[in-house]
Amino acid sequence: MSPISNTTVVTARDLRQVYAISNGFMRKADALQAVSGVSFSIQAGKTLAIVGESGCGKSTLARMVSLIESPTSGDLQIGSVNAVTASQSDKRVLRQKVQLVFQNPYGSLNPRKRIGQILEAPLEINTSLSRDERIAQARAMLALVGLRPEHYDRYPHMFSGGQRQRIAIARALMLNPSLVVADEPVSALDVSIQAQVLNLLADLQKDRGLAYLFISHDLGVVRHIAHDVMVMYLGHTVEHGSKERIFARPLHPYTQALLGSTPGLAGHGQATKRVVLMGELPSPLNPPAGCVFSTRCPHATAQCRAARPEQRMIDGRLVACFEAERLASIA
Ligand SMILES: Nc1ncnc2c1ncn2[C@@H]1O[C@H](COP(=O)(O)OP(=O)(O)OP(=O)(O)O)[C@@H](O)[C@H]1O
Ligand SMILES: [Mg+2]
Repeated sequence: MSPISNTTVVTARDLRQVYAISNGFMRKADALQAVSGVSFSIQAGKTLAIVGESGCGKSTLARMVSLIESPTSGDLQIGSVNAVTASQSDKRVLRQKVQLVFQNPYGSLNPRKRIGQILEAPLEINTSLSRDERIAQARAMLALVGLRPEHYDRYPHMFSGGQRQRIAIARALMLNPSLVVADEPVSALDVSIQAQVLNLLADLQKDRGLAYLFISHDLGVVRHIAHDVMVMYLGHTVEHGSKERIFARPLHPYTQALLGSTPGLAGHGQATKRVVLMGELPSPLNPPAGCVFSTRCPHATAQCRAARPEQRMIDGRLVACFEAERLASIA
């Protein structure tokens, strides 16, 4: 068992992703700001949950952190390596340290391969282990994620959704990563199965000191698994801090709205303060001029519509809201 240390596994600074959207009728491509300056760090053994509505940039952030996409700008440090400026060969090594688990495990498991082969593939590509050693490690991993020895020879379609997600988790761990980026890993599962997979993730984290970047739109799930929470809206971080503080007393009006709209969470502490979201989510092609949330915020002032609020530390967490002190005092 590796002891949980307070080693920083990943640090992101001001990460941005801008996509050029070509429009057939226009000469110049439009710039879509998918992630607009996001910063965080995660320690070994800890989980940072990213929450926010569809389209707020969660998966884009996941792709940047797992080195699938380079950011348009910003810094990403993984372990002691700067992942943005790393050479191609250093990036190959870094990709072993960061592994991904997706929402739909069936789509990411090759239907023609047996589970044993699926688990051994990363070892075959990235290590010089012998065939016997690879088999032994795959079998040990099956046991670790709660599958049985006879599952080694079976194909993905022979498993339930929850078992497939266990296989995807097993595969992600074969190269002993320090960071697992999980993008809605339990969203496709029945609620009863979700808890089992979340408990497995928590056990593996404890045993191996894994850091998780855990993406979910389900605040019930986040409350179960997160240490820290980062709330995103239209590519921006609006609130970021410990789960306890954010769930007990959300300060950003958007966080208040999210918590208030989740059954079973409303009624906890200050989350009872209902904020109902007005209007539609703006397009990231044409974000509001001031605070990105100002078009839907019940507390927005002229300042909110004119200028973008920086994140400030209020009541032990970061909040990007001009009105946060006033809202905190009346919360
Ligand atoms: N490759 C791409 N090219 C152009 N635009 C993209 C690309 N990927 C994402 N986007 C846009 O970037 C924004 C953020 O998308 P992203 O998939 O990161 O959101 P999300 O928070 O993961 O949403 P969901 O909860 O639906 O998974 C969206 O407006 C999306 O349409
Ligand atoms: Mg997504």
